Amino acid sequence: MKTLVVLTGAGMSAESGIKTFRDMGGLWEQYDIMEVASPEGWAKHPEVVLEFYNQRRKQLFESSPNKGHLELAEMEKYFNVKIITQNVDDLHERAGSSNVLHLHGELKKARSTVDPSLVYELDHWELKIGDKCEKGSQLRPHVVWFGEAVPAISEAEKIVKTADIFVVIGTSLNVYPAAGLLWNIPPGIPVYLIDPGEMNITQGLNVTQIKKKASEGIAELKKMIT
Ligand code: APR
Repeated sequence: MKTLVVLTGAGMSAESGIKTFRDMGGLWEQYDIMEVASPEGWAKHPEVVLEFYNQRRKQLFESSPNKGHLELAEMEKYFNVKIITQNVDDLHERAGSSNVLHLHGELKKARSTVDPSLVYELDHWELKIGDKCEKGSQLRPHVVWFGEAVPAISEAEKIVKTADIFVVIGTSLNVYPAAGLLWNIPPGIPVYLIDPGEMNITQGLNVTQIKKKASEGIAELKKMIT
């Protein structure tokens, strides 16, 4: 079976009603990244940061995978599918995808602020000041903030190198090191880009853009490669 590596971003979850970051009306038009998604913001006002993620987690508990997530999960019948996602939602997993690597963490998990190896599943949407790990320290969202390291990036680079086909879905490729993964694509393999927006992937790649939303685009891609 050929290996299909897929890099997804916020556009993958847009049809599930989850806001993207940099589109019109996106999250970063409403919030200041440094206030709600950085270690500085956390140090200054942890309750503001917790509330930002609580609102997104609450919405996630009320959201479902869209047709695009389901189509991608179904691709496992035809390919060895490896998903690398920048998204912190669990919609790929809930759609049935069995191989998902989260580059930027997971919204439904919390982490100790004194021992990062202590990670807890959250079965409720609210994380509050006073919610502590077993070592007695405040819990924080298990999400990579701006300025923090991306521990999964080297594993992601290795996965990209195994691709026979590479697909990019719903990411503006604005954020590194995630966007830099494209430099690891094996030379000459087909690269598909599913995004309704104007994109310009260069890096000397053999790119076909399917200028559609994720659900339609993945259905079209499936016809092209299966
Ligand atoms: N289907 C497919 N793509 C879509 C759709 C859709 N329905 N709607 C929007 N898009 C595309 C946009 O054209 C854009 O290229 O999704 C992309 C969204 O880009 P961003 O909002 O920048 O999201 P993303 O690339 O995932 O951001 C990367 O930045 O803020 C950080 O950590 C955060 O993981 C995030 C990272």
